[in-house]
Amino acid sequence: MKRWIILSLAGLVTLGLASQLPGCASSRGGAGASAAQKVYVKPGEHDAYYAFLSGGHHGNIYVYGMPSCRYITTIPVFTPEPAVGYGVDEESKAMLGGFTWGDAHHPGLSETDGDYDGRWLFINDMPNARIARIALKDFKTKQIFGPIANLSAAHACPFPTPNTEYVFAASRFSAPVPNRYVKVEDYAKEFRGIIAGIKVDPKDGTMSMGFEILMPPFHWDLADAGKGPSHGWEFFTCYNSEMAFDSLEVKASQAEMDFVAAVDWRASQKAVDEGKAKMIGGAPVLDPNQVKGIVYLIPVPKSPHGVDVNPSGEYICASGKLQADVSVYSFAKMKAAIDGGKFDGDRMGVPVLKYEDVLEATVPVGLGPLHTQFDDKGNGYTSLFLDSQIAKWKVGPPWNVVDKIDVYYSIGHLMASEGDTRHPTGEYVVALNKLSKDRFLSVGPTHPEAAQLIDLRGPKMELLYDFPTYLEPHYAQMIRAEKLKPITVYPMAENNKPGAIKRAEDARVERKGNRVDVYGLVVRTHFTPDIVRVNEGDDVYFHWTNLEQDDDIAHGFGILWSNCNMQVEPGETKTMRWKATKAGITPFYCSNFCSALHQEMQGYIEVSPRGTPMATVQRPEPEKTAEVAALLRTE
Ligand code: CUA
Repeated sequence: MKRWIILSLAGLVTLGLASQLPGCASSRGGAGASAAQKVYVKPGEHDAYYAFLSGGHHGNIYVYGMPSCRYITTIPVFTPEPAVGYGVDEESKAMLGGFTWGDAHHPGLSETDGDYDGRWLFINDMPNARIARIALKDFKTKQIFGPIANLSAAHACPFPTPNTEYVFAASRFSAPVPNRYVKVEDYAKEFRGIIAGIKVDPKDGTMSMGFEILMPPFHWDLADAGKGPSHGWEFFTCYNSEMAFDSLEVKASQAEMDFVAAVDWRASQKAVDEGKAKMIGGAPVLDPNQVKGIVYLIPVPKSPHGVDVNPSGEYICASGKLQADVSVYSFAKMKAAIDGGKFDGDRMGVPVLKYEDVLEATVPVGLGPLHTQFDDKGNGYTSLFLDSQIAKWKVGPPWNVVDKIDVYYSIGHLMASEGDTRHPTGEYVVALNKLSKDRFLSVGPTHPEAAQLIDLRGPKMELLYDFPTYLEPHYAQMIRAEKLKPITVYPMAENNKPGAIKRAEDARVERKGNRVDVYGLVVRTHFTPDIVRVNEGDDVYFHWTNLEQDDDIAHGFGILWSNCNMQVEPGETKTMRWKATKAGITPFYCSNFCSALHQEMQGYIEVSPRGTPMATVQRPEPEKTAEVAALLRTE
């Protein structure tokens, strides 16, 4: 038995070596290699892809490497993260705007010409109608835009346009616009949905309000940007065109057809620029009853969920979650019907196109179709929630299903490698399953979520690997690793934070009334100053600058008996407020391992009784600063 195992292992090693030889197809083990080889990334080697998984009601982004499925890090976005002081230091605390949670659903990588460009990652907070921008230069959240005016939650969000001109947000719930007291029974008359176009500055990614469109009070659900011929349009699904306000599980599934809304975002912005919008809650709102040519409705059978535009931009694929087909619409047919004025009435001023005028094909994929992603060979991959399967189908005649694979269990979104861009790589798809049941060691009543890596390179889809995730990845995106070039340190020369100091001689404690500002340096392995004298009742602002310019040498700053802890990365300055509530001694320490003398990196706050006379400026003794200055010179 033992001998057999050894021989088998030897065989694996040989195969493993073979797959490393030059000329091998693709990034990891070709189609003939075993599942284990295809996910194996040797110690010290890197994955071919970054995957960004939304953290659902954890409010964050999880970063994984693919194909190894190794968890790499978490990017705090909408939720405080005490380990690094996100939401604790003054800057990130202000960015969170008083919220301590978010429900993050759909990561959206920035694009240039319809392909991921590796600059930014956008993510929505559904309930609070916010959008965050993360810079992929340092994997940090840089801006949180919102709560967006007039929106009751943003589910169809952010789904960037092909040159990241816009990110979008559409209301999942409807409410009166502007929000005011009405009877819920007056839903159809008083409630409205909103589709918002948020402008993105092409240079630095800063988001700002572009336009809002007043929509019927349906539940706006998901979105995708047009590309190629359909560039300039954004598509949104909805359910509850019945306009039910209670027992939705029954009442919102009555109508044969719900809709995809097609928004001409250039026409919408133009209408705002021409003064055709009404300011409501600080946002310019366009009413389709008055402003024509900005939005149209395409009928879709049975409560659609996902809407996805194929890589060429010719087809718009929507899945009615209560039917067994993907409905594929032709952009050219849609355009012709609009240009020919062929409408079937309107819903609250939004013209309705005829289903048969716009439909290109229906693909019988299976039960509970939700989302579709694409490969580089003209195939679509649709997640089937009820069947717990992925269906692979031909985008184009004969519009048939060519393969299916079981997933475990109850798949929601799926993500293919660069699978929603103009050039999908066609290597992998990850199934983001809602239920894991028996797939992992049990941890009590709530199981982790289950993600599964599937190989798309062979003629048949092949399940390679299961990996658990913390709650709750809805959507994810996967980008080729070589597109990202993260920095290793913040260049000290570019640090112009108001609290920054760059020389030990400038370290000081300044007092103005009850406000104390500590301008300090952290460098292996010393806080300068390491003794800070304040009075009971003082508001103390610590501004620490990490002068290191070495990769991976972050220092921490944690204060005992408080919620004050943060990390300061090489070249960074961060400010944290601490209240001196009680006379006595309060130690602080470096909370992030930094060197052999990490344990010695500490200091004391000496809090004297209220009213003790204090110098306006305290400086550490010159011999101490000289020591630190010498340390810096030897760096
Ligand atoms: Cu500095 Cu640990």
